[in-house]
Amino acid sequence: MKKILLSGVKPTGRPHIGNYFGAMKQFVELLNSGDYQCYFFLADYHALNFIQNREEMARNILDLAIDYMAIGLDPNRATLFKQSDISAHTELSCIFDTLVTMPYLQRAHAYKDAVAKNAEINVGTFNYPVLMAADILLYDTDVVPVGQDQKQHVEYARDIAQKFNNVFGETFKLPKPLILEHVATVPGTDGKKMSKSHNNTIPLFATREEITKAVMGIVTDSGGPESGVPANVYAIHKLFRSESELKGLYEANKGKYKALKEALIEDIDAFAKPLRERRAKIAKDENMVREALKRGASDACLAASTKLIEVKQKIGVL
Ligand code: ADP
Ligand code: TRP
Repeated sequence: MKKILLSGVKPTGRPHIGNYFGAMKQFVELLNSGDYQCYFFLADYHALNFIQNREEMARNILDLAIDYMAIGLDPNRATLFKQSDISAHTELSCIFDTLVTMPYLQRAHAYKDAVAKNAEINVGTFNYPVLMAADILLYDTDVVPVGQDQKQHVEYARDIAQKFNNVFGETFKLPKPLILEHVATVPGTDGKKMSKSHNNTIPLFATREEITKAVMGIVTDSGGPESGVPANVYAIHKLFRSESELKGLYEANKGKYKALKEALIEDIDAFAKPLRERRAKIAKDENMVREALKRGASDACLAASTKLIEVKQKIGVL
């Protein structure tokens, strides 16, 4: 029996190179390793905390499914599905709500950040780790590949599994996060964490023009005037080339920020071009994408409903 791997991404807009190198790249590598039975889903109910517009949500869902396929998540080798198609996620989340305390959820980083930005956060944001625990635990997941900032959420899922097992008897496996420790947070064009909400991204499927515009806009004073190395340019560049290769380039072009940015544009474009082309091809056949999600939902539903029946028996409602 293969180990079970599951991960999800919120359909909140175009993925950027921070999402790719921080999280999505390892989805593909782990799928290709052949060592796991893989589930990748679109966390649309999580996205509903951010996107409350029918057209935008529908478009983002289809776009993310296309993105998934374009990076190499083949729906014939992995189960690709949409969270909202499997009602067991929200049902299990509701059951978990009765085991989780408010002070425990108030300690979550994402909740604290949301409160710091906006005092009136919604219950969905508060409950985010509980729904995420349900996503993970429904499939007897062994490993969850995620970016560094999601580590705490996987720990919450472990805690919730443990709590349920203590109260109702052994039911859930304890999942482990898989994190690419060497990929520090990818900086955006302004030097802060690259994020859709900071307007500082380089989209993964960017056109050459978009790449050029974004790279030319990278803030270059962060290396300090005497170093001659633009730190933000370098931090992004090392995602595309080994540091030994970059050493010569950056030594030869000390202080020549424009030349270094031009080299970075070439490298990002060489990387993005085949991805862009694959994406454009897949995007031409939206029916195929919809069909793949439907098939994925029927596979996921089978696993999730079996688990939910077990849970309902354990809690005594069935
Ligand atoms: P965003 O901040 O752009 O909205 P998400 O919260 O949707 O990104 O993150 C999706 C995944 O990408 C998560 O697993 C997260 O850890 C990873 N990720 C997001 N931004 C970065 C970044 N700048 N560097 C590394 N990983 C990132
Ligand atoms: N919270 C994750 C993010 O923001 C998305 C997500 C939702 C997820 N449910 C999950 C990731 C379950 C892994 C497993 O990126």
